[in-house]
Amino acid sequence: MSQQATRERGAAQDGAAMATLTARGLVYGCDYNPEQWDRDVWREDVALMREAGVDLVAVNIFGWSHIEPEPGVYDWSGLDEILDLLHANDIRVNLGTGTSSPPPWLSTRHPEILPEQPDGTTRFPGGRQAWCPSSPVYREHALRLVEQVARRYGGHPALALWHVSNELGCHNALCYDEDSAAAFRVWLEARYTSIANLNAAWGTAFWSQRYGAWSEILPPRATLSIGNPAQALDFHRFSSDALLDHYRAETAILREHSSAPVTTNFMVTAHIRNLDYWTWAPEMDLVANDHYLDHRLADPVSELAFAADLTRGLAGGQAWLLMEQATSAVNWQPVNVAKTPGQMTRNSLTHVARGADGVCFFQWRASRQGAEKFHSAMLPHAGTDSAVWEEVVELGATLDRLTEVAGTRVQADVALLFSWEAWWAADSEARFSGDVRYLDQVHAAYRALYDEGVSVAVVRPGGDLTGYRLVVVPSLHLTRDAEAAAVEAFVAAGGHALITFNSGIVDETDSVRLGGYPGAFRDLLGVRSDEIFPLLPGQSVTLSDGATARTWTEHVRTTTAQVHATFADGPVAGGPAITRNAHGAGTAWYVATALDADDLRALVRDVVEQAGASAPGAGLAAQAGGRVEVVRRTAPDRAYLFVINHGTSDVEVPARGLELVTQDRADGVVVVPAGTVRVVREETQP
Ligand code: GAL
Repeated sequence: MSQQATRERGAAQDGAAMATLTARGLVYGCDYNPEQWDRDVWREDVALMREAGVDLVAVNIFGWSHIEPEPGVYDWSGLDEILDLLHANDIRVNLGTGTSSPPPWLSTRHPEILPEQPDGTTRFPGGRQAWCPSSPVYREHALRLVEQVARRYGGHPALALWHVSNELGCHNALCYDEDSAAAFRVWLEARYTSIANLNAAWGTAFWSQRYGAWSEILPPRATLSIGNPAQALDFHRFSSDALLDHYRAETAILREHSSAPVTTNFMVTAHIRNLDYWTWAPEMDLVANDHYLDHRLADPVSELAFAADLTRGLAGGQAWLLMEQATSAVNWQPVNVAKTPGQMTRNSLTHVARGADGVCFFQWRASRQGAEKFHSAMLPHAGTDSAVWEEVVELGATLDRLTEVAGTRVQADVALLFSWEAWWAADSEARFSGDVRYLDQVHAAYRALYDEGVSVAVVRPGGDLTGYRLVVVPSLHLTRDAEAAAVEAFVAAGGHALITFNSGIVDETDSVRLGGYPGAFRDLLGVRSDEIFPLLPGQSVTLSDGATARTWTEHVRTTTAQVHATFADGPVAGGPAITRNAHGAGTAWYVATALDADDLRALVRDVVEQAGASAPGAGLAAQAGGRVEVVRRTAPDRAYLFVINHGTSDVEVPARGLELVTQDRADGVVVVPAGTVRVVREETQP
């Protein structure tokens, strides 16, 4: 067995909580909001859940106003009945603490809990999550509720998992009110210990911002000009920590009354960026993620794979749980695109191929009322006589046949570094170009690897790179010394690195690294740039190898690197655009511009090949007339080959063993019909 299966490390989970959940097979579940329905519907729901194979149901996610209709007055009748009903039907419960959205009585009595925007305006109840993460009043009421819920249900036989709040920080991560200001000051004092240190870290010599006392410091509220970027960066860190602190407070109470594992649903999905999940993940008993296809992106399909790989990275390579996704359309995008037949299954099994040991949906039954009444569900408005329901039942059966995959690990030779704090710093107001956005660059690099059939492990900068052949570092604008040193050591020991523009520019205080760009990686890359020349929208440049690039160019001089391609035109015509530097026993590549997708892909193909990294899905797209994902999950005693065909023609992939979806044998080749997924239990390990 190669070492690959055990390479990804970093989070504290040992896989035990997830393994307990999957003792009966891969999890199949959903959010269920019975409070929206009459009791006679509950019985029908549970019967249909059994028909679909649903075995983990999240309840009480938005339950607060039902279970505590008046301050200190509790009504458990509905929740008691639901838990007992689910239990009687052998369906396990993923129990919400119910604190996600406070009841109207609380915000009426205590309007000071409401969140405030940078311009000082309040956000009111009527939607959800209308609370300030630093509000002591909200915290007190929320924890009182958690105590009651934990006491009542902590030993309930149906309880399999605690679900703290819901998508913490989805809407309210950044709050700028007085409570936040006070908590921010406490956080800063702990971080900097003296106001002089803070002044130095924030560069307050600029624009007369020197602080004389902690009390003078505010959250980065709306300003007339660009605000202090270091202050904004620290406010992001503080805000992520404030919500994590809330998670910890709820969890501590749950643990007093219950031994069930605790988690919350992350939002590793394109449009959410306010929580640094690298710091959160080690505190989860298991990592759970919510993912929705985002049709505002250029390429939602590869983004889904990226999010799944990143979630596995957060889980330290262990299995994780897909806590929410949609069976078809969502309700919150400008146009809510429905899934085509087979797409929901492909999406689900992409998550499984990339380490999810369970697939859950928001939600069980489509709502008739409320903001999400047009969001898809497992049981649509049309009822069971519907394409969605048929696919839901079929997916349940497929997951059953994949039971033995649980607990296996994903193989990858290539690591990609991803950082929330680099995201915050790169997309700050003080930047070279508003057209250079961190996530776009991460997605571009990931997509090139994805299209080349390469499996990717997403790693926290500074994390263990042992055993990978190539590390890809897209636009890591903020790079800590130790993070740069880890990449350097990896290359020195014989690894390959591919680093793209806008990396290594600032340190952890958002201060520019002097002496030339890309600061932290200058020596490793053997280059030094003295000026950045961003391009205007619509402008492009050509490279000496015929590639096209946009958005960013820079005046690069090589110190020890060799030039792979130069800029043929544009503001730095004649200068290096792509370089390659021998460093120790390895090689470090630099890409000083934003290559068009096909050109980046061609470069990645070369680099992957030179690094000797495997690309199990390479070359299948032409056969399929569309993309084909090939991912391998392994354990010491077994291996599974997942092939996901997004194309319009069938593909044939070399494989030998039992194909689990159809239960047919693959004798040297598995045929994967257009639009379907096949999973082969391989007889001969690679
Ligand atoms: C999530 C949330 C669910 C539901 C879903 C809709 O953000 O946790 O409650 O709103 O999105 O896509």
